[in-house]
Amino acid sequence: MKLFLDTSDIDVLREYIKTGVIDGVTTNPSNLSKAGNQPRKRIEEITTLFKHGDVSVEVTEQDPAAMYKQALEIAALAPNVVVKIPCHADYYPVIHRLAQEGINMNITLVFTVAQALMMCKLGVRYISPFVGRWDEIDVDGIALLHELRAMVDNYGFSTMILAASLRHVRHLNGAINAGADVATLPPEVFVKALAHPLTDRGIERFNADWAKLGIRQFP
Ligand code: G3P
Repeated sequence: MKLFLDTSDIDVLREYIKTGVIDGVTTNPSNLSKAGNQPRKRIEEITTLFKHGDVSVEVTEQDPAAMYKQALEIAALAPNVVVKIPCHADYYPVIHRLAQEGINMNITLVFTVAQALMMCKLGVRYISPFVGRWDEIDVDGIALLHELRAMVDNYGFSTMILAASLRHVRHLNGAINAGADVATLPPEVFVKALAHPLTDRGIERFNADWAKLGIRQFP
């Protein structure tokens, strides 16, 4: 399973890449806007930092023709860029054309197994089901991940399931158990997932017991 960070914050990315478990990055118009101006420069920095991993960059144009052109420009930014496009009916022809041209895509804002199936048929690299936004309206978002896993495996599609909109560690655990290919995590969820209070308590106990020996050097 791959883990991506769901952020455009360079300092955060620089810090957490050191853990060795981050395989890529997902950006979106919201986190790029939060990170400040010069989004292009920021994207270039991120793609350099994660040159061996995929970096999703979302289109901002809404007109399909303009979106197609922008998608090609985004794809040309770096070899590891994956173009993110919302799963909207108007954009199917754009996605179809880009897929035929070999552009790697991450289709975002996927909420149903039917939408996901159609994107798999178009041959996109990733589909991003939004777990937390389902949960927000009291629908089990993790259940969708299980449906998607069964659908992709049943039909033998090569599209990867990228669990997105994960709001807490319970969502990450759910994505792991559902067999998602990737989970993208906001930094605050990633940090929480690294540790556990019982691990901390266990270390304290080991340290306290060891101190009773009163030796300075070991081994
Ligand atoms: O990157 C897209 C997705 O993960 C956004 O999550 O928390 O805004 O629903 P959220």
